[in-house]
Amino acid sequence: MCGIVGYIGYEQAAPFLLSGLERLEYRGYDSAGICLNDGGELVVKKSKGKLVELKALTQNGTNIHGTVGIGHTRWATHGEPSDVNAHPHLSDSCRFAVVHNGIIENYLQLKEYLISKGVKFRSQTDTEVIAQLIEYYYQGDLVDTIIKVLSKLDGSYALGVISKDAPDEIIAVRKESPLIIGLGENENYIASDVPAILSKTRRIYRLQNNEIAILKRDSIKIINTDKEEIAKTVETVEWDLDAAEKGGYEHFMFKEIMEQPKAIRQTVARHIKNGRVVLDEIRLTPEQLKSYNKINILACGSAYHVGVVAKYVFEKTLRIPVEADLASEFRYRDPIVDDKTLTIVISQSGETADTKEAMKEAQRRGSHVIAIVNVVGSAIAEESDDVIYTLAGPEIAVATTKAYSTQLAVIYLMALHFGEMLGTIGKAEYDNYITELEALPDKISQILESEEKIQYLASKLFNSRDVFFIGRNIDYALSLEGSLKLKEISYIHSEAYAAGELKHGTISLIEDGTLVIALATHEALIAKTVSNIEEVRTRGAYVLCLACEDHQEIKNVAQSTIFIPKTCDMMLPSLAVVPLQLFAYYVASLKGCDIDKPRNLAKSVTVE
Ligand code: AGP
Repeated sequence: MCGIVGYIGYEQAAPFLLSGLERLEYRGYDSAGICLNDGGELVVKKSKGKLVELKALTQNGTNIHGTVGIGHTRWATHGEPSDVNAHPHLSDSCRFAVVHNGIIENYLQLKEYLISKGVKFRSQTDTEVIAQLIEYYYQGDLVDTIIKVLSKLDGSYALGVISKDAPDEIIAVRKESPLIIGLGENENYIASDVPAILSKTRRIYRLQNNEIAILKRDSIKIINTDKEEIAKTVETVEWDLDAAEKGGYEHFMFKEIMEQPKAIRQTVARHIKNGRVVLDEIRLTPEQLKSYNKINILACGSAYHVGVVAKYVFEKTLRIPVEADLASEFRYRDPIVDDKTLTIVISQSGETADTKEAMKEAQRRGSHVIAIVNVVGSAIAEESDDVIYTLAGPEIAVATTKAYSTQLAVIYLMALHFGEMLGTIGKAEYDNYITELEALPDKISQILESEEKIQYLASKLFNSRDVFFIGRNIDYALSLEGSLKLKEISYIHSEAYAAGELKHGTISLIEDGTLVIALATHEALIAKTVSNIEEVRTRGAYVLCLACEDHQEIKNVAQSTIFIPKTCDMMLPSLAVVPLQLFAYYVASLKGCDIDKPRNLAKSVTVE
């Protein structure tokens, strides 16, 4: 969602701020702005719309001057997307400027109070109250004032603050929303996410909740709200700039689809030693594991779809009941969860508000939480009991691909690890799973090599108005992801249905030419799925069927087919999802959609 970047040094700040904001575009935004301290005056340029507007307004950063500045991309929550609601926000007399990610829950009370004291507001945002509060309480010491203001705020925030009175300083604060500090030579930076500053430095501090950073050109001091200094360890980011750039591909999404073999190989290799799964990150004893009578999986969107696959995988391999829950629903339904429930939380960003809050709810009820997360040091990673990182590298496209695939890989690793601990997986079966798991990257590469076929099918079918994805068992779990991928980037209406459920209502929507994408990879249920294919074909549907390569007879029942290599049942989604990602990608491309940044969507959904 929103993005923050800040610079203090000896160079002109604006070009860096604009390029940093560009690298945060993937998070989703609808306005952008920068503020620089130009010889003691705070100068703001901001604009509704994409960064090109801000670049035009600032003539690529050449008509706004200063070596200290903050910038922001805003995804509207309080107040419509507009020039005036864009950040940075200035205090009444333009003495202080603030950029903010997060939500100030009590902003209305604070705003009313300030208005009653004569303060004039310009915007409808919650953020402006922070700038106004700083001015209202300011008595000469910016850090003291910010500490006082923090004590008045309820909610979440990552803040960057600059002031007319302290022209050689940026103050940065974090509570719940991520913020990093970049360390340079005679210059320092703040950012909400690593890609924004990767062109300058890989050395960072990650701010923790309620830490305040005071950045000068040649020093960084981090304190708590009692003004005690905190010794932080410098972290070196492992990604290089290439990983966060398109590297010759037209879209990040395509690049990330292509990176899946490598991402899965890395994630799996990290956790297999001498033919055995090693998951030291999970600190559960066999006795603890045996004490659980339920596994509870919490996530949103595609990560939730991984959870649905995991339900089939864990129930089959561990014989424990599994509930996969949408995090946004779990939180508000008084769930039956206690210390006999193991909770698994899945999140690429590690910042999704609903997932984070659902995790805390599970913890409050006594459940042990294992998180599967991609972004190192994110809130969910920090606050879970155990964390397993997916080694997908930075995922920039809003539509997830390689994160989904690496999350699935971690689910298989966990199934094997727990299956061995519980004694529910026999040795031969275990060895076969390991072989199949290690073979996944090569099989995915094989699928990627035949992407022209998918491109051709997309060119035949991209004009579809409605699409139905159907499947049974693990194919149903996969159909959820196939459908989401298509609709989120191509804007084609699509639905996922358990194939056996169609005739209980949905089949009435099938008419001449309706596209049905039938997933029939699960060997034991092929005959059943074929019956469902026949049912929709007789009602006029055009069926594109995805099956394993040893089931060529499918060609006789569907108008088009895609074949994937065989693997064990539980790992089929890892192969079958790839053609579905490519199909969605090519359809969106043929329709001229903004593939990496689909309308209305954000990469990290940090609001409820
Ligand atoms: C998928 O393509 C989406 N962008 C979205 O559903 C995403 O998976 C969801 O918002 C969860 O995000 P997270 O993994 O960062 O928690």
